[in-house]
Amino acid sequence: MSLTKPGARGLQVESMALADIAATFGTPCYVYSRAALVAAYQAYRDSLQAHGLVDRSLICYAIKANSNLAILKLFADLGAGFDIVSGGELARVLAAGGKADRIVFSGVGKSREEMRLALEAGIHCFNVESASELAQLNAVAVELGRRAPVSLRVNPDVDARTHPYISTGLKTAKFGVAFDEAFDLYQRAATLPGLAIKGIDCHIGSQLLDPAPAAEAADKILGLVDRLAAAGIALDHIDLGGGMGIQYRADEPAPPAAYYLGPMLERLADRKESLVFEPGRSLVGNAGLLLTRVQVLKHGEAKHFAVVDAAMNDLMRPALYDAWHDIVKVGAGDTAAAAPMPYEIVGPVCESGDFLGHDRELALQEGDLLAILSAGAYGMAMASNYNSRPRAAEVMVDGAQAHLIRRRESVAELFALESVLP
Ligand code: LLP
Repeated sequence: MSLTKPGARGLQVESMALADIAATFGTPCYVYSRAALVAAYQAYRDSLQAHGLVDRSLICYAIKANSNLAILKLFADLGAGFDIVSGGELARVLAAGGKADRIVFSGVGKSREEMRLALEAGIHCFNVESASELAQLNAVAVELGRRAPVSLRVNPDVDARTHPYISTGLKTAKFGVAFDEAFDLYQRAATLPGLAIKGIDCHIGSQLLDPAPAAEAADKILGLVDRLAAAGIALDHIDLGGGMGIQYRADEPAPPAAYYLGPMLERLADRKESLVFEPGRSLVGNAGLLLTRVQVLKHGEAKHFAVVDAAMNDLMRPALYDAWHDIVKVGAGDTAAAAPMPYEIVGPVCESGDFLGHDRELALQEGDLLAILSAGAYGMAMASNYNSRPRAAEVMVDGAQAHLIRRRESVAELFALESVLP
């Protein structure tokens, strides 16, 4: 499903013209579609339903992908749980009306304070990633007179075959407990008074399109669950993480959710445990775009540059991972005078790494609006104020209405927390 469609005033999201959004809220601006967010959640749920798993599954949206309160509230209303990785994310979920007992807490370096906050809130489960963390969590729980619900995040040593920065399931990664050590660590956890063993967890990477690695990881995890049960450690739930990839290029369609999830879900159909999933990108990525305006066209000796008002601080993925995002013109025939040519789409930031797209064949004039697609995940969430640039506004379209869900920062806000020496 494409997020944008042509309309009389150029590209639209749902029934809103992007040109009108730019006129009202300015650029750069993230634009999300409520309907697309709901559809992505529904597609995930439908896959679970097709395997008879929906009633014993909890879809915990990994909020690191996009933690805007309006998005969290939408998913909370749809019945989602949440996967968090910090005390800040815990506060966001609770502020958005998410339920604590539907939260799983992932992450390789939780502080004692974060453990305390999550314990007091009463979260569903801590996904523990090391022997040390297990001991620390036990100590915090004993101090509070509670028992912390735990899963061990087990590293299955499976190659997810994705970008190395977002591949997490190999032995060489900092993530999880080594597969060969997990059994012993569960036995140790069972003796600790501050812990209640609940489940097992694994997450092998992100932007995965091939279902085989996830299925292989599931096989390894299920084998371990059975060995634990035979040793008297019965688990309530199995958490198979997130990672499902999305479409970034119009000419490279991503397989449907059912194709990616199918082999993994087949393996779970005959089991008794309840299930947890932690999708992030696949619930929000294709539901958002970054709207930007061409400031300057610059025809250099070797390249043509379109300098736009969004930059690497707004969308870091191209600079950081050499990621591709399709870039399309918003206007409806308003640049008939321009000739198509290959443009470097770049931002105003003072770095050569500040690009949003290389070699894009477009017919452009200064003032044109562009939409950078599939930017709903890890876009605004990873934005910064580099070059003292206020972060973009965020807007959610619902039918024919556009709601401002985060106003643009002001420049004064950027240094409001700073002070000079007396
Ligand atoms: N669970 C855990 C423990 C994770 O570390 C992640 C993502 C997820 C779930 C959600 O994975 P997803 O369904 O979104 O693939 N900034 C990178 C992606 C980093 C992913 C980090 N962990 C990017 O822009 O591609």
